[in-house]
Amino acid sequence: MTARSPGDVAVRLHDASIGYDDVPIVARVDLTVRHGEAIAVLGSNGSGKTTLARGLLGLAPVLGGDVEILGAPVGRLRDPGRIGYVPQRHTVSGAVPATVREVVSVGRLARLGLFRRLRAADRVAVGEAVAAVGLADRMEEPIASLSGGQQRRVLVARALAAQPELLIMDEPTAGVDAASQDALAEVLARVSAAGTTLLVVTHETGPLASVLARAVVVDQGRISYDGPLAGAASGSGEHHCGPVADAGRPGYRLDQPTVTARPVRSLGGGR
Ligand SMILES: Nc1ncnc2c1ncn2[C@@H]1O[C@H](COP(=O)(O)OP(=O)(O)OP(=O)(O)O)[C@@H](O)[C@H]1O
Ligand SMILES: [Mg+2]
Repeated sequence: MTARSPGDVAVRLHDASIGYDDVPIVARVDLTVRHGEAIAVLGSNGSGKTTLARGLLGLAPVLGGDVEILGAPVGRLRDPGRIGYVPQRHTVSGAVPATVREVVSVGRLARLGLFRRLRAADRVAVGEAVAAVGLADRMEEPIASLSGGQQRRVLVARALAAQPELLIMDEPTAGVDAASQDALAEVLARVSAAGTTLLVVTHETGPLASVLARAVVVDQGRISYDGPLAGAASGSGEHHCGPVADAGRPGYRLDQPTVTARPVRSLGGGR
């Protein structure tokens, strides 16, 4: 068991470049995420958010610098089940004849290791994760019979079921209705309060603003802002790092694909 305390480093990128086919997309980035932090990763389409997330998971190659995750160089973590991941794309394949319960159980098995049987506590965790995304009544249904947004929620449940130390979610609310986004925010608030480190790529900070205190804005593969989420609303290139006086205020929106200036007079910090 690895006992971690808040303040320990969960993710560290030092001069890190991540890309594909030797072409860096994320270039020479420095970022430190402490255990227990809840971070929004913002930025316009194509800025490199998913590449950054995939780099942390070892799914996109680190081309330079250092990337360390839960105390190990990327890809060298002995127990990958400590990291949960909700990929951006996309839904669960309709070709897989699996039920909601089965898909979410796979998330739990990832934590236990393959060929281990689920015990009662694991089944409880699976049930709780599915309930947390509001799909308890669909437990035995084939995934293929669910809508796209519901399938996204199953993927969130799959990640939650493993009760990871670090949860990386790539646009978990994309295509998810407002009520379910609010429900997800509640779930994330709970897992964050329990100590899970959250890294959430999103274009819709509104519902999650009360959970994600810090924001990192990725702009053309570089981090152009790192500070309170509310401050991310005031410009991608500027560092308005006032206190998060109004965490409930949306700072970045799908209908504003770049981080544009928004009135932030009431956000404090600049009294
Ligand atoms: N597998 C890949 N091979 C080569 N290039 C890629 C690959 N995936 C992404 N890219 C390129 O990397 C750049 C950043 O893509 P990325 O998916 O990281 O952006 P993003 O910030 O997540 O965007 P979005 O908000 O649309 O999800 C884009 O120019 C994209 O074309
Ligand atoms: Mg992306």
